Amino acid sequence: MDFLKDKKQLFKLWIGVLALGLVVLAITNYRVNFYGNSRLLPVSLGIFTVTTFIVGIYFHKARYIMHGAAFMIIVAAAFAGFANWLPQTIGEPPPLEEQIEDISTMSQQELADLGEKLIFGSVGGSTVKGAIGKGQCPLCHVFGSSDHGERAPNMFGLPDRSNEIVNLDEYINRDTVQPVSFDGSGIAETGIEYMAESHACPNCYVSPGFGKGGTNDRESPMPAIHKSPINLTIDEMVAIDTWSYVREGIDPPSVDEMRAAYEKFIPEDERPQVSTGTEEEGGGGESQLYATGDESLQEIFEKAQCTVCHVIPGIPGADEGDFGPELYVKTNAPKRMKDKNYAGSASSVQEYILESILDPNLYVVPDFDEDLMPEDFGTGLNAKTVFRIVNYLSKIEKGKDPPNHEEM
Ligand code: HEC
Ligand code: HEC
Repeated sequence: MDFLKDKKQLFKLWIGVLALGLVVLAITNYRVNFYGNSRLLPVSLGIFTVTTFIVGIYFHKARYIMHGAAFMIIVAAAFAGFANWLPQTIGEPPPLEEQIEDISTMSQQELADLGEKLIFGSVGGSTVKGAIGKGQCPLCHVFGSSDHGERAPNMFGLPDRSNEIVNLDEYINRDTVQPVSFDGSGIAETGIEYMAESHACPNCYVSPGFGKGGTNDRESPMPAIHKSPINLTIDEMVAIDTWSYVREGIDPPSVDEMRAAYEKFIPEDERPQVSTGTEEEGGGGESQLYATGDESLQEIFEKAQCTVCHVIPGIPGADEGDFGPELYVKTNAPKRMKDKNYAGSASSVQEYILESILDPNLYVVPDFDEDLMPEDFGTGLNAKTVFRIVNYLSKIEKGKDPPNHEEM
């Protein structure tokens, strides 16, 4: 054959064969992956595009046909392939959220990792200073073996300590504002039951010296963590406990045993079923604590964690915080600034609030302990968030209706 001797023709033949091969490959890939949940469909699109270019360069006459075909393929691939592809990568829930569906299939380490994530916001977060997750425990608790807990007991050694506490006289013969979680719940008999009771009913037994100011350890400032604002599910609390055991090298009780401990202290109608984080953002222990400043005020106060410690008049759900004073700031700030012990430099209600957030120990409200409000708090909030907090709080007056939070 004559044209085979022509190098140019020979080259074209090779290109033609190559293009044909690519087209077959693209079609095969397209067919094989069309019905599955595969993300390889766009590969066909890529191959077709490359083929069209190659053919377009060397076969001028075939160009238009190929372009037409490529266009149709692109359209088809765009509909079938991309529609299939994009939502899968974008909408895919974070892996931990899938796992949280059924913690009994997780390995001990996976469950402990979830626990660490719930407490500190990420796996490994326990070694990061200031790290905090959905459970918000580090707001009040320290976790390192040599840390000193000012606001609340150090969580190190909890598993061992729990076994001992349940046998103490002062534990068994408790005298608190709420000696049992609910009628008939009884008190804890094992270490894990003590941990569950501590989470579900902080008032049941108050660690000596850590009670709410002025209550002689009869009342706890810790919020029940299955309730607002923390809202952890039983499985999430089980994950947290698992981490507490595993990180100290202690074998945790089984998941069933832990669940049963929580069920002993949380009546059925009070058990949160789904992680609140799952419905909204993140979920699975993802820290949902980063406010952008554009949220509703209710959400801002929750994300900024103020509601864990303060009652904030007018804000739905902000009526449990027992750790700090009720925030009637418009009424109280002028009094504070006149106090002879006041060492700050604020000259307006707004400035006083800002100071309270950014430098809480400059002035400590009488009857509250120093060091209770976290020092490094302000650093985690952006300017818009702080502005909206200050703006709202500065208008709360004792004896008057709170401002309308929905309009601010
Ligand atoms: C607002 C502050 C605060 C937050 C947030 C908080 N706690 Fe506490 N917690 C306390 C205080 C204060 C005590 C001691 C008083 C008491 O026994 O109730 C305590 C006690 C405990 C105890 C009993 C400790 C012991 O040595 O007997 C456990 C367990 C516990 N907390 C776990 C947690 C976990 C887990 C979280 C996070 C999901 C958490 N707490 C969040 C303040 C807090
Ligand atoms: C871990 C608990 C805790 C958290 C979280 C917390 N506070 Fe406080 N806050 C306190 C305590 C305790 C006091 C009183 C002692 C003091 O003045 O330091 C206080 C005092 C204040 C005061 C002064 C109140 C007065 O009557 O003079 C303001 C204002 C305030 N907090 C605002 C906030 C805001 C806003 C947030 C959220 C961004 C917040 N706090 C988060 C515990 C907390």
